[in-house]
Amino acid sequence: MNFAKFFNEFPVIETKSVRLRKLRLEDAQQLVDYYSNENVYRYLDWYGPETLERSYEVINMWNEGYDEGWIIRFAVADKETDTIIGTIFLSEFEGKRADIGYELSENYWRRGIMSEAVQEVLSLGFNQLGLTRIQAFVTGENIASKEMLEKFNFKEEGFLRKFETHNVTDEIRDMFIYGLLNIEFK
Ligand SMILES: CC(C)(COP(=O)(O)OP(=O)(O)OC[C@H]1O[C@@H](n2cnc3c(N)ncnc32)[C@H](O)[C@@H]1OP(=O)(O)O)[C@@H](O)C(=O)NCCC(=O)NCCS
Repeated sequence: MNFAKFFNEFPVIETKSVRLRKLRLEDAQQLVDYYSNENVYRYLDWYGPETLERSYEVINMWNEGYDEGWIIRFAVADKETDTIIGTIFLSEFEGKRADIGYELSENYWRRGIMSEAVQEVLSLGFNQLGLTRIQAFVTGENIASKEMLEKFNFKEEGFLRKFETHNVTDEIRDMFIYGLLNIEFK
């Protein structure tokens, strides 16, 4: 996806509670900190950046990924302090399709924060980038994420046996695939 075709610079989006903005190297320590909680990474395919150096690397990788067109990954930042409390992204662009993913510091769960971010990122994907389909891969145990997707009208489309290999442990997991079409997005 050639983001430069749609945006002069990396977009900044304000919701009721948070600001979605470009990640910065100053966010690196906070990213390590909230990812050090097993509840945050349990259902993901990595443990997050475990050191400050690795955190710098992934932030650079994601920001370069925006320039290269394979990911748009936003910091989810507290509006008052601008401190990063999570991230949300679209990636794996293929034609008019992309994947969505997100994670939030456990201190901020169940306040509707990621719902606000998901609403804006779906709108950006469908209404600004012109996608027709956004999909997500979720483990069966990840009730919070499944409920979130269903709240946004994503349809459970299939069960993918032995689909995902964990980047650190090599554990292989079954996943559910969820999909949402532009015409189903409200
Ligand atoms: C998934 C996650 C981002 C949700 O963030 P959140 O800000 O707490 O979500 P919200 O408060 O906006 O909740 C949205 C909906 O998700 C569902 N939900 C969220 N947490 C839930 C939980 N613990 N149990 C059941 N449903 C839950 C609810 O349907 C909720 O809607 P409601 O509040 O109107 O009932 C958060 O739990 C997280 O970071 N988990 C770890 C990372 C992860 O697994 N990411 C997804 C990988 S596929």
